[in-house]
Amino acid sequence: MTARIAGIGICVPENIITNDDLAKIVDTNDEWIRSRTGICERRISTEDGTSALAAKAAKKALEAAGVSPEEIDILILGTSSPDYNYPSGACEVQAAIGAVNAVAFDISAACAGFIFAMEIVQGFFQAGIYKTALIIGSETLSKVTDWSDRGTCVLFGDGAGAAVLKADEKGIIDMMMGSDGTKGPVLACQSRTLGNFLTGTKPEIGFMTMDGQEVFRFAVKKVPESVEILLKKTGIPKEEIKYYVLHQANERIIEAAAKRLKEPMDKFPMSISRYGNTSTASIPLLLNEMVEHGMLEPGDKIVMSGFGAGMTWGAVLLEW
Ligand code: ACO
Repeated sequence: MTARIAGIGICVPENIITNDDLAKIVDTNDEWIRSRTGICERRISTEDGTSALAAKAAKKALEAAGVSPEEIDILILGTSSPDYNYPSGACEVQAAIGAVNAVAFDISAACAGFIFAMEIVQGFFQAGIYKTALIIGSETLSKVTDWSDRGTCVLFGDGAGAAVLKADEKGIIDMMMGSDGTKGPVLACQSRTLGNFLTGTKPEIGFMTMDGQEVFRFAVKKVPESVEILLKKTGIPKEEIKYYVLHQANERIIEAAAKRLKEPMDKFPMSISRYGNTSTASIPLLLNEMVEHGMLEPGDKIVMSGFGAGMTWGAVLLEW
């Protein structure tokens, strides 16, 4: 048995922040942001937190799949911006949608979170333990963004994407994932004060910090590398891959990956211009658009690949 995507749903906040809006609060401009990242606008949540966005996306995914909440065996939320340390966002979603029979938990793998969730589910399906899963990538990164740091605040956006996975004969063909903890400081968000007992200090919310050029170098190397590993392992030629659905962090990273893979850009759909980098949500947001535009037919082979803080990376090759 393998994991097949049976339905996708998304939720993005209504509030649109354009590059020009950002130019009013930091020293930046539309031309710089577009040319360096491909981003034109992003959604920023003013009401819903990570769990609320996740629950709304989840309900739509269940509807698309024709699956009831009670049928869900396992519910995984990938997020790097949970509303609380606990209860987990996944447990909040479980309560909100009535997935009463599911085991629910969060995973923290930053922008690789959706891919990691999918691979965890695949393991449970292959072992015959579960048959129906709900995985979600949801972020409100706006709450850990330093809105005075032009180096990071122009990049990110809020949103959620969910997928129902069912155990089936066809679906995931192969997958890989990896992490390198020595690169942790490259992209970090320290939201808890250490040594509270000794120092008496209260926990603080910290902002995200990033070495952008190091992330860029890492992504440009790891994304094509992970895709190549999967193609080699499966023996599937590039010609058979219809689309590469990559984490939407930066248009230039995607272009560089396409160049290294020697594949044409029309195999790399993008939604970054409208949503910015939504971390764990970016892959399901893009997949949802592809479904809505009728770009995927049964039997199509696609590769999905994500990378993010940790550092983490992963890729999945599947038949639609
Ligand atoms: N507007 C205008 N100028 C800016 C801005 C801005 N928003 N941000 C930085 N600059 C300036 C810098 O201060 C610098 O000025 P200086 O030369 O006077 O010092 C100049 O622009 C160049 O800065 P660099 O950091 O060298 O710009 P670079 O070309 O590397 O682009 C960027 C920066 C877009 C962040 C790039 O490094 C990048 O995309 N990295 C990957 C980031 C990423 O993908 N992060 C998330 C991935 S993981 C995840 O998804 C969680």
